Amino acid sequence: MARDTLTVIDNRSGQQFDVAIENGAVRATDLTNPFLTSAGPGLVIYDPGLAHTALCSSSITNIQLEPGLLEHRGYRIEDLVANSTYLEVAYLLLNGELPTADQFAHFQRALSTRKFVHENVKSFIQGFRYDAEPMAMLAAAVGALGSFYPDAAEIDDIDARTSQIMRLVAKMPTLGAYAFRYGNGQPFVHPSDDLSYTGNLLSMMFRMSELQYSPDAKLEHALDVLLMVHADHEQSAATTAVRAVGSAHVDPYAAVAAGVYTLSGPMRGNADRDTLRMLRELGTVDAVPAFLQRVKAGEQRLFGFGHWVYRAVDPRAKILRAQLETLNEDRPPSPLLAVADELARLAAEDEYFLSRGIHPNVDLYSGLTYEAIGITQSMFGVMFAIARSAGWIAQWLEMITDPEQTTVRPRQLYTGPSTRAYKPIAGRR
Ligand code: ACO
Repeated sequence: MARDTLTVIDNRSGQQFDVAIENGAVRATDLTNPFLTSAGPGLVIYDPGLAHTALCSSSITNIQLEPGLLEHRGYRIEDLVANSTYLEVAYLLLNGELPTADQFAHFQRALSTRKFVHENVKSFIQGFRYDAEPMAMLAAAVGALGSFYPDAAEIDDIDARTSQIMRLVAKMPTLGAYAFRYGNGQPFVHPSDDLSYTGNLLSMMFRMSELQYSPDAKLEHALDVLLMVHADHEQSAATTAVRAVGSAHVDPYAAVAAGVYTLSGPMRGNADRDTLRMLRELGTVDAVPAFLQRVKAGEQRLFGFGHWVYRAVDPRAKILRAQLETLNEDRPPSPLLAVADELARLAAEDEYFLSRGIHPNVDLYSGLTYEAIGITQSMFGVMFAIARSAGWIAQWLEMITDPEQTTVRPRQLYTGPSTRAYKPIAGRR
């Protein structure tokens, strides 16, 4: 009869034991503890990049490689985008359920009163060089926020913790927009009580001398959709950074800053920029077939395609493609959209891409959507970080309230020299 166990035989010693399989996983300690001696672990799991290691149990986001499924707390991303707003999704991520009307009104009020930042945060941002990357300003500013709240480090106090959570969600757009305005040499725009979360973000970025700023409803909705599709993506590199840093019981601002810094690297944060650059270099659909040949020859990377956790079309790519269709009803589409579509069409017919599970990812259309809204490339990462902050905080909260979680402290395989005698500098050759 089938049993949910794994039998391990160490052929060096003939030692044999059974390990329980639970939720498709074996516990690393069950595998390694039998080898534990006073001299050390004896056997460890080697997993660079943690690609085959589950770092936690989580009930927030579910992803399936095929057919390309993304769900938050059991709700499909397509249903959330069609019926919710980013703030409702943020509530869902943080609280586990969609809010009732009363709960949502309370959540909005609590965020609204916390969207302003201390005046010194502005001077902090103004200390950056005029051409600093907005991501560098955002990461430093969010990390510094902890120093403005004496209770920031009280992560075991539920009231204090709830305040930090609300502050973080409320202030990320303000910080991101301030970083943008500073880079443009424009005065900061205060958040307004009359606008939605997303409308405020647009206002703080783009308001000039208007007495009343009213965002274009379609652009506001498109940005809200972008925020929703980026709100959480389970254990990405940036989320893992938030969990790892948070596991040392730092305040949540420091943990979220680690997430922002992670996104600022080229492996993730700039993928939408790289995709746009690739589309610009291609210019027209005629250039696509020859380009795909170069990709297949290993001479080019196909940006906006492929994903660590999808072997089908990324559901977010489909959502953003449909969103661009709506945006283009009353404005001319970018000529690059046809190039992106042609890449997707030809790749979907090509055995090379199909057999490797290389399909469009969210970045094929995210840069085009940002540009259609008027958001320039330097701000793509900031928008992503604002959106993802809800997921990061939900993941941080889940981690610090999970009794199984402990300070992240992996092992290594030491491959350096063995103990040797110290040589004074005069004797070194
Ligand atoms: N272009 C060309 N070849 C690719 C691509 C791609 N975009 N993606 C995967 N491959 C190829 C690899 O070269 C490899 O080929 P081989 O088996 O002949 O050696 C095979 O497909 C498997 O590739 P892996 O690197 O194992 O796939 P992995 O799942 O690790 O890669 C990654 C994921 C890094 C995202 C990759 O698809 C990529 O570089 N994509 C382009 C950059 C991009 O769009 N990044 C954004 C990621 S999505 C996101 O962050 C939201």
